[in-house]
Amino acid sequence: MKIRKKDNIFARATDRIAAFEFDDKVASVFADMIERSVPGYADIIRMLPVLAERFAVAGSNCYDLGCSLGAVALALRAGIKAPGCRIYAVDNAPAMIARCRDHAAAPSPFPTPIETLCADIREIEFSRAAIVVLNFTLQFLPVADREPLLRRIYDGMVPGGIVVLSEKITHDDPYSRDLLIDIYHAWKHANGYSQLEISQKRTALENVLRPETLAVHRRRLEQIGFRHCEPWFQCFNFMSLTACK
Ligand SMILES: C[S@@+](CC[C@H](N)C(=O)[O-])C[C@H]1O[C@@H](n2cnc3c(N)ncnc32)[C@H](O)[C@@H]1O
Repeated sequence: MKIRKKDNIFARATDRIAAFEFDDKVASVFADMIERSVPGYADIIRMLPVLAERFAVAGSNCYDLGCSLGAVALALRAGIKAPGCRIYAVDNAPAMIARCRDHAAAPSPFPTPIETLCADIREIEFSRAAIVVLNFTLQFLPVADREPLLRRIYDGMVPGGIVVLSEKITHDDPYSRDLLIDIYHAWKHANGYSQLEISQKRTALENVLRPETLAVHRRRLEQIGFRHCEPWFQCFNFMSLTACK
């Protein structure tokens, strides 16, 4: 049995907290970190085979953008029934993509190939895309880069294809915003993170993870041409939506 390495990266008090990076230290504890830091993460991953079965059409491509360890790519592969599909798992962090490559290469009963790419998602080509998943990745791009990326994704999609966009969100109403952040931190504390860890990680993510409101995400997708933008999952200040071409 493989023991999951515990995330204690922010456990010790530090004078100068460096900006958060997806380096080897983070990659080595990432499975534990994301489970205890993103409410509903496991549920979102568990739903993806259902979407994959429905939306992957014969000969189409599926993209896992900002794939980290490859959880999305593996979940898509488990659901795809259509023949001749291919999954591209893309991340620009070498420490992540190396681990993702090992996961993708492990024996699997599912036939769809997974190709791993160490690349910036702003620079890759999209073609015949039936499913494009950005599972907590868009939030790490500069805000100005989000619309051009989503537009290129839209252009590379087949009619009827879907984008799955999961994000940490913020709220215009200050009361809701503060309340949801507070509840989120209480949830993290209940998951074993100390107040020091929560506060130091928050500082490290400042200016690295820039959340937007659900309304902003929706408006941007609709302006590009996506239709039926519907949140299908929300827990505290985290949500996942689907949008169709
Ligand atoms: C929160 S993690 C995503 C989690 C992952 N999708 C999952 O479901 O387990 C964000 C990932 O996006 C990657 N990333 C951030 N900016 C990127 C970019 N411009 N191009 C490619 N990958 C990027 C990071 O290296 C990191 O692995």
